[in-house]
Amino acid sequence: MEENNTSADMQDNQSLDEQNSQELQTKKKRGGFTSKIGFVLAAAGSAVGLGNIWRFPYLAAKYGGGIFLLTYIVLAVTFGFVLMIAEIALGRKTGMSAINAFKKLNKKWAFLGVLCAIIPIIILPYYSVIGGWVGKYFFTYITGGGASAAGDNFFNAFITSPWQPLLFFFIFVSIVFVVVLFGVEKGVEKVSKFLMPALVLLTIGVTIYALTMPGSAEGIKYYLLPDFKKFSVKTVLAALGQLFYSMSLAMGIMITYGSYMKKQDKIESSVHQIEVFDTGIALLSGLMIIPAAYAFSGGNPETLGQGPGLMFVALPKVFANFGNVGGGILGALFFALVLFAALTSAISLMETVVSIVIDKFHLSRKKSSVIVYVGTLLLGIPSSLGFGVWSAVSVGGMTILDMFDFLSNSILMPIAALLTCVFIGYVVGCQNLTDEIELNGPFKFKKFFNVMIKYVCPICIAAILVTSILDAFGVFNI
Ligand code: PHE
Repeated sequence: MEENNTSADMQDNQSLDEQNSQELQTKKKRGGFTSKIGFVLAAAGSAVGLGNIWRFPYLAAKYGGGIFLLTYIVLAVTFGFVLMIAEIALGRKTGMSAINAFKKLNKKWAFLGVLCAIIPIIILPYYSVIGGWVGKYFFTYITGGGASAAGDNFFNAFITSPWQPLLFFFIFVSIVFVVVLFGVEKGVEKVSKFLMPALVLLTIGVTIYALTMPGSAEGIKYYLLPDFKKFSVKTVLAALGQLFYSMSLAMGIMITYGSYMKKQDKIESSVHQIEVFDTGIALLSGLMIIPAAYAFSGGNPETLGQGPGLMFVALPKVFANFGNVGGGILGALFFALVLFAALTSAISLMETVVSIVIDKFHLSRKKSSVIVYVGTLLLGIPSSLGFGVWSAVSVGGMTILDMFDFLSNSILMPIAALLTCVFIGYVVGCQNLTDEIELNGPFKFKKFFNVMIKYVCPICIAAILVTSILDAFGVFNI
């Protein structure tokens, strides 16, 4: 890519090379992306996953449809944009992963690297439980059980069964482990170049069909038209947590990706591309699932509150309309592609956790991978059993999986994001990062970036967090 640099560019790059020769040396050792599109695809591969296809639609359904959608989009183009730029620039500037990047710039802020490290450790196990669910559906479809998957009780019977979800969870984590252990991510990345577009095309196709089903019109309205009466701080908190989760922000992952990015590549335009891709798939998934769920529930919004099961309940019913054979093929294909998207995200999560273990405890890659594998299995078991044998364990109506999800997305990630803004705005200084972003061209949204990082993001996130904590303790009801 971008071989036709002008001589001025070349000179710039040369002096840049000298300045940063040490960093570049480290970078060489760490490997790196050879082209901008390679970077964008890899980052999008981490970003696009269950967060877009499974989590976004059920949150949108739960938090009022259109109003959630609107809140999400506003947050994506403001908070999401500046935070992703900031993290990638931070990574590229330091040439390090999160745990060391903060430390390098200021010793006292090393704790923020640790906080960022805890988040993927919490997410990976329960992410893999849902990955296991997808695996089960894929397996059901390829073994000809598509019709039964559309049955009313199929999903419930599955997640409440004592061993089945555990088995699929174990298989899912084991696949991720094998990929990470043998370092075959590159191969996975290559395949994902074909499979991700296939997933997008299939989703578009299913969406068009789902939108023409009788009874879906109400659902489309619910999803697209904001009802401002349904707006509350909870909507914002949920949308914010979803934004971080979906874009793999506030947990150091984009810092690590940034550390592999070449100095010549443009950060700003890469971020635009990743964002459009990630948000586009989330919005499309909502459009595929919510109107269908509406149609099948006879327009009863109550059933839209299905929570984590929404995708698994709604889609098989759509596929069943295509008959046994057609529906079977469609279901198998769809769940295979979703499974793949989930695997690529889980691989990037496990990679992150493994490198944290390597950095912190100075263990070999092999040993670290085994530790993370066993740890993930152990930590995921409660989330899996929480829908069945341990369903009695719940806090405020949340299952164990919901609790982990809430802890990471609605508490820890906003805190990490808030601190990252404070760190950049007041400790490192925005200028330091904007210089990095401007290495190869003007930064169009520089002023906006500065104001957001210094004032808007930290103040808003703090306000949202405080309000929801007060709410959780019953100080007042929002
Ligand atoms: N962003 C991924 C998704 O939407 C989840 C993820 C989070 C993956 C963090 C890697 C790291 O599914």
